[in-house]
Amino acid sequence: MQVQSLMISPDSIEDVRNRMDIVDVISDFITLKRSGQNYKALSPFNSEKTPSFYVVPSKGIFKDFSSGKGGDAITFVMEHEGMSYIEAIRYLAKKYGVELKETVQTQLEQEAVSSRDSLYIVMNYAKEQFKTQLLESEEGKSIGLSYFRERGFHDRTIEKFELGYTQNEWRTLYDAALKAGYSEEVLEKAGLIVKKEEGKTYDRFRGRVIFPVHNLAGKVIAFGARILTNQKDQPKYINSPETEIYHKSEVLYGIYQAKNAIRKEDFCFLVEGYTDVISLHQAGIENAVASSGTALTEDQIKLIKRFTENVTVLFDGDAAGIRAALRGIDLILKGGLNVRVLLLPDGEDPDSFSRKHSTTELTDFFKKQAKDFISFKIDLYASEAAQDPVKKAEAIREIITSISVIPDPIKRSVYIQETSNLLKIQETVLLTELNKILIAERRKNQQEKLNVEKQEPFTDRQDILPPAKLDSNGIVEILEREVIRMLLVYSNSKVEEDVDLVSYFINEFEDLEFSNKLLEKIFNIYLEAKEKGLQLNSDYFFASENNELKNLVAEIVVANDRYHISPNWKNYNILIDEEKDNVPATAHHNVLFRKYRYVQKLIEENIIKIKEAEARQDLSEVDQLLMVQIQLKNFDSEIAKQLGITSGKY
Ligand code: CTP
Ligand code: MN
Repeated sequence: MQVQSLMISPDSIEDVRNRMDIVDVISDFITLKRSGQNYKALSPFNSEKTPSFYVVPSKGIFKDFSSGKGGDAITFVMEHEGMSYIEAIRYLAKKYGVELKETVQTQLEQEAVSSRDSLYIVMNYAKEQFKTQLLESEEGKSIGLSYFRERGFHDRTIEKFELGYTQNEWRTLYDAALKAGYSEEVLEKAGLIVKKEEGKTYDRFRGRVIFPVHNLAGKVIAFGARILTNQKDQPKYINSPETEIYHKSEVLYGIYQAKNAIRKEDFCFLVEGYTDVISLHQAGIENAVASSGTALTEDQIKLIKRFTENVTVLFDGDAAGIRAALRGIDLILKGGLNVRVLLLPDGEDPDSFSRKHSTTELTDFFKKQAKDFISFKIDLYASEAAQDPVKKAEAIREIITSISVIPDPIKRSVYIQETSNLLKIQETVLLTELNKILIAERRKNQQEKLNVEKQEPFTDRQDILPPAKLDSNGIVEILEREVIRMLLVYSNSKVEEDVDLVSYFINEFEDLEFSNKLLEKIFNIYLEAKEKGLQLNSDYFFASENNELKNLVAEIVVANDRYHISPNWKNYNILIDEEKDNVPATAHHNVLFRKYRYVQKLIEENIIKIKEAEARQDLSEVDQLLMVQIQLKNFDSEIAKQLGITSGKY
């Protein structure tokens, strides 16, 4: 529903909040069992055997311990149905019969909304027409329906995907729509007719089977129309053009039908075409979506991310399939998602393959064959790389490049480790390569930042961990200081057998901006030295001409000797016994703890922003911020898990 520019009055929202009953709301989706004052159920977000989903009616909240999700009834509807904040409010308003009062919009806003609404209406009309033609007209039945049946599509499947047919005439839909009262203008805006000069206007889709494309809410926003003959001079598919309601790069075919399964399975298959999605669905694999023949986009990845962090690209095993898989991998990684790759036997596509096997066979095969992207790339180069050291170097570079786009440093280091094991190459070598790429990338970004003033939110790494500019309470700075102290005092220590502390810290902190510029400078000096293969210790800084720098280093080193452990540090509940004997643990803890405090800070600030936006009635901003909030919370619980602490102050 594209109604985010509408302003719902805060009173109405308050009304919805007052009337909604969390047990009642959730019971529409899952079965709750009473347990004392509260209710329990199996998690709707994960598959589990013992219930870990709780509803606390007295507080109006739920908490799902298996996925970490929690919140009020609105949050539940958003999470469970993949709705935006506004969509959830509308849903609940309808359920409780609350009339949403909308504050006055500008005329332009009103026109935009009603124009989009009329497109949804006419698209829905067209869809119904195409369905009727498929199921009721002679031509539809004998050509369209028999084509689908030949392909093995069941009636249930045809209904679920709302497949249709359009007769081989110049103006079937056009005439019918005009008669039904739709204007030529709206038909054209919806991309349903093509207007040529001199009154020559005709249907865009003719003599083809129809695949409607649905948005998240299940409304039809576009059509793909497949040819049924072997005419070489005609395109196989004719698709809707971009319209006010259809932005191809933001849409995934099948997302509406797949969203619940994706959430449930916590991963999503990404395939190429309409028929792949449909056949997989029919074969019982419902968590599949298609990029519809074009290269994957960032927006499509964000759409997936609303439901899961795990993507398996499922492509043909031919050269084109491999190329497509390779292209997809880095983009998915860059979006912060985990990616696996599954190539089908040569000559098969997901459509043909799924028709030959049972659901269990498919599930087994997919489980066994899906490789993580590192193994996939290694295997791709393995045969050549075995004999040829140059090829091997190329393979390493390929893999490291993919790893370098992953926003999360923790994940990056896990993959480095895995690559090290698989290729039998020391981690330090890989880390050095990785750092080179990251440093080059960082320089490039800084350059670009100078050129581009305003950055969209959610564009790159920053959407996962925006640079720290927060020094309120000095928390961030204390932690930064701690990192620098460790560098100065323990620069020769090892964190792991093959990893020295400097490499480790560089790898972990390179994408965080220091709030204290002087500390950052020290960090960068270490970074540059590392790049040149030089080892530094604190003496280097004492020889520096920069007095400020010298003083700071002296202060840190002297304080270290005096206190051994910074007293500030103790305030933050980190107890380090005999630090010298356990440098690796301290180092790792530092890294994690800094991120943890930092993310919590962001969460706190985000909550304030949400409240402000709500007060301003800027609901689309609220919507945006809530998405940020979800991401931050995910990040927070991931780190908390690693630190062995319970997160969830909020
Ligand atoms: N596609 C398109 N226009 C074309 C060819 C392909 O838009 N001329 C898109 C469609 O979304 C299609 C996808 O690319 O679903 C994959 O193409 P292809 O494998 O050729 O089509 P399928 O839908 O798989 O059709 P079929 O199984 O009948 O070959
Ligand atoms: Mn295909």
